[in-house]
Amino acid sequence: MRTQVGILGAGPAGLTLAMLLHREDIDCVVLETRDRAYVEKRVRAGLLEQNTVDLLRELGVAERLDREGLEHNGIYLRHGGVNHYIDMTALTGRHITIYGQQEVVKDLTNALLSRGVPIHFEVGETNLHDLESESPRITYEREGEILELTCDAIAGCDGFHGVSRPTIGEHLTEYEYVYPFGWLGILAEARPATDELIYAWHERGFALYTMRSQSISRLYLQVPADEDIENWPDDRIWHELKTRLGSVNEGKIFDKGITPMRSFVAEPMQYGRLFLAGDSAHIVPPTGAKGLNLAVNDVRLLAPALAGLIKNGSTRRADGYTTAALRRVWRAQDFSNYMTQMLHDLGGGPFQRQLQLARLGYVAHSEAAAHSLAENYVGLPAEPEF
Ligand code: APR
Ligand code: PHB
Repeated sequence: MRTQVGILGAGPAGLTLAMLLHREDIDCVVLETRDRAYVEKRVRAGLLEQNTVDLLRELGVAERLDREGLEHNGIYLRHGGVNHYIDMTALTGRHITIYGQQEVVKDLTNALLSRGVPIHFEVGETNLHDLESESPRITYEREGEILELTCDAIAGCDGFHGVSRPTIGEHLTEYEYVYPFGWLGILAEARPATDELIYAWHERGFALYTMRSQSISRLYLQVPADEDIENWPDDRIWHELKTRLGSVNEGKIFDKGITPMRSFVAEPMQYGRLFLAGDSAHIVPPTGAKGLNLAVNDVRLLAPALAGLIKNGSTRRADGYTTAALRRVWRAQDFSNYMTQMLHDLGGGPFQRQLQLARLGYVAHSEAAAHSLAENYVGLPAEPEF
């Protein structure tokens, strides 16, 4: 079989890339190891930058997002039992939208299948070959058969645990920091007790109050990285959330899990005709929810690079892909790390806590500091100058 672009992974990066390529009349095939139901149910963060929403609208996949997404104009930073409002829209003229990542994935999957773009779920044994040639190949197993897909280029959108990055591992420099804590996240049938997201600093650790709808709350607690979810019966979770967040509406918990936190970047994001995008190339801690937005931004840069390569044989944008993508990735790494360091118990004792409170007080009361946080939070331009 032959296609122009073979895409590994049906997450936000792979699916958005497929939509962008389809718009350019470039053929692609998406290969995904998991089944469709699994991919569409996987609970992840749910905060979209305005840039991301704008792109989904441009691609014609925002009908449900426009109906069900919740627009937010600011956040509360909570410390000392008080919520301080950061008015993002007043500071930047932009806003963010709450809409679950799996909802974005469902909308993209439906749009692609209805346009006849093939997505093959439940493939196995994906291997990449001839990446240095102009006809790289993917071999994979599907329904017991070994198949081969010859492409003009391959997009490795297969997440942090995929095969793309390890395949070219010897050509990459990897930068990594693993945090000694993670987030315990729940979804609950409860009306959110807040109008905006609350990022809470507390001596017992960070907590975040977010939501999915008027009747579904999403809440997170900082816990040790090696924590066992079995140690967290529902009443302990609610008690801890109330301690850290103040007023919280309780309801039936229907999803709970612990996610470890890391910062990771692989460089370059290309080797031969293989291009990495999204979590396969970089991971940010979830404080600020940049993961999906970075993945979408990568493919916003990658699609024209692939179009240039395939339609005109021009390597100019493809050669510049790593530099353009990584500039924004490192900016987001710094911002996500800054939010994480400001809000979590870092284990540094009273001195570190006082530094955090000084920083929080500064952001809460200085417009210059708040403006810096806000412009990063709502999302920087696709190709920022810095
Ligand atoms: N072949 C094909 N698909 C694979 C392979 C493989 N060898 N290995 C993994 N996959 C699939 C995974 O099952 C997953 O569905 O690749 C997909 C990668 O999707 P994501 O992990 O969602 O990554 P990405 O599309 O880059 O989106 C980044 O995801 O992790 C979150 O919070 C993060 O919001 C960010 C977003
Ligand atoms: C979420 O709604 O899941 C969310 C929001 C903001 C974050 C992280 C996660 O910083």
